[in-house]
Amino acid sequence: MISGATFAAPPSQKGKVMADYDLVVIGSGPGGYVCAIRAAQLGLKTACVEKSPTLGGTCLNVGCIPSKALLQASEKLEEAKHGLGAFGVKVNGVELDLRGMMTHKDKVVSANTKGVEFLFKKNKVDRIEGTGRIAGAGTVVVKAKDGKETTLKTKSIVIATGSDSMPLKGIEVDEQRIVSSTGALSLPEVPKRMVVIGGGYIGLEMGSVWQRLGSAVIVVEFLDRILPGMDGEVSQQMQRILGKQGMTFKLGTKVTSAKPTNKGVTLTLEGAKGGAAETLETDVVLLSIGRRPYTDGLGLKEAGVALDERGRVATDGHFQTNVPGVYAIGDVIAGPMLAHKAEDEGVAVAEILAGQAGHVNYDAIPGVVYTWPEAATVGKTEEQLKHAGTAYKVGKFPFTANGRARAMNATDGFVKILADQATDKVLGVHIVGPDAGHLIAEVVLAMEFGASSEDIARTCHAHPTLAETVKEAALAVDGRAIHI
Ligand code: FAD
Ligand code: NAI
Repeated sequence: MISGATFAAPPSQKGKVMADYDLVVIGSGPGGYVCAIRAAQLGLKTACVEKSPTLGGTCLNVGCIPSKALLQASEKLEEAKHGLGAFGVKVNGVELDLRGMMTHKDKVVSANTKGVEFLFKKNKVDRIEGTGRIAGAGTVVVKAKDGKETTLKTKSIVIATGSDSMPLKGIEVDEQRIVSSTGALSLPEVPKRMVVIGGGYIGLEMGSVWQRLGSAVIVVEFLDRILPGMDGEVSQQMQRILGKQGMTFKLGTKVTSAKPTNKGVTLTLEGAKGGAAETLETDVVLLSIGRRPYTDGLGLKEAGVALDERGRVATDGHFQTNVPGVYAIGDVIAGPMLAHKAEDEGVAVAEILAGQAGHVNYDAIPGVVYTWPEAATVGKTEEQLKHAGTAYKVGKFPFTANGRARAMNATDGFVKILADQATDKVLGVHIVGPDAGHLIAEVVLAMEFGASSEDIARTCHAHPTLAETVKEAALAVDGRAIHI
């Protein structure tokens, strides 16, 4: 068999066995495709099974990449409409071309998914089109669209089948008026009103996109704060800033039903702890209350692969399931559902299978919400440190005091560094501000190296840059920030 080949319709007849592999990866998202490439780099004969016609999984097709393309594009519109004037740049007749924006998004997605195809060929990873099922350790049966089945024999299997959106009782997603993130990436026109259920990553990012394009967006959140996993001050600031931009929040509220009508959708809301019901009319509803692991059709029960209490594939510290030779990574296992976490796990498991010491440091995985400004976080929040009884110091620095942020007219937000009271080791960093997603990289690296806030404070930072806020926050840990 030729390596690096694509098998659209597997050449073998039902029951026939294709060549032996060292590794078969099921799923080509950022976990699966990165794992397959790294395994091939390390000399393992590798195939990747993907049921969708394009590679790249949720992230490249209907997740990270298209959402960032729309965030970027809608930010440009917002800037042209409301931001450039303050820089002395006059722009007249600014108009939205929604189709053009969607074309930009589709082009970006296509370039990325084709990029993975190229990388598979370059690294001689066999792409097998079809739905994979584990028929016992060492055997994956792939069912192509035409129903033909092919059996792949392999030493190891990595499950990287990802996740899909969490449903909500009483609400039926039709991807027209009641949409998941996938529908929200392709609305044919700008709805006048949009209700977002869930004030998390997707709700705030996709809510921001449509709000910038002209929708009146109401975010209904079950808890008493948005971005519940993040540091409390980040949640507060983000709510304040997004509120100033026009987003409305209904916190501590649950949606009990959503009924499509002739004109739009009628929602019934209630306090999270009960109370009187109220109705709300809207044009489009985005349901974004989290994602759940996706294991449909994988044959895990028959293969004896155990799941945990939340339906995720249960793994040990080395990505091994309870069935020898079967491993799992990414959104389908425990941990944050983030592309870079899936990628790092993909690399780690490939290295373990090649006899190396693959490892992921779960204490230093950043999370970024790509709104404007962005919210970025790594490590422990102040609430977690308090809960654990850890003694800590706080250093904070606002973007209002940073020269570059002033030059950019982007002074909302702050950098907050939490360091161990006794050792000064950095325990967590939380940023709301322009380019927070880029700024967090420096502190993730610092945390990988076990740095202290003193280490960051004594590192020379170029002037004038946004990164100087990180240095100043580190100085502030010991009360010696210069510019405030
Ligand atoms: P996935 O990317 O979900 O890939 C799984 C693949 O497996 C899919 O292609 C699926 O078709 C395939 N598959 C499933 N079952 C089978 C089977 N039986 N046989 C063959 N193939 C199968 N994360 C970030 O870090 N940054 C972001 O900016 C970001 N933005 C996001 C925006 C949105 C709107 C969404 C929905 C998610 C976003 N995420 C983001 C999360 C990110 O997409 C996921 O964490 C990431 O895709 C998980 O990667 P994965 O490889 O585990 O699974
Ligand atoms: P999320 O977990 O980020 O947010 C869900 C929100 O919905 C939470 O605030 C939760 O309290 C709330 N909620 C839960 N049930 C509710 C209910 N019945 N009514 C009202 N609110 C309810 O999930 P989201 O936004 O769906 O995204 C899924 C995951 O995808 C994220 O957790 C993240 O891992 C990933 N993602 C990452 C992005 C990034 O890295 N920038 C962007 C988009 C998604």
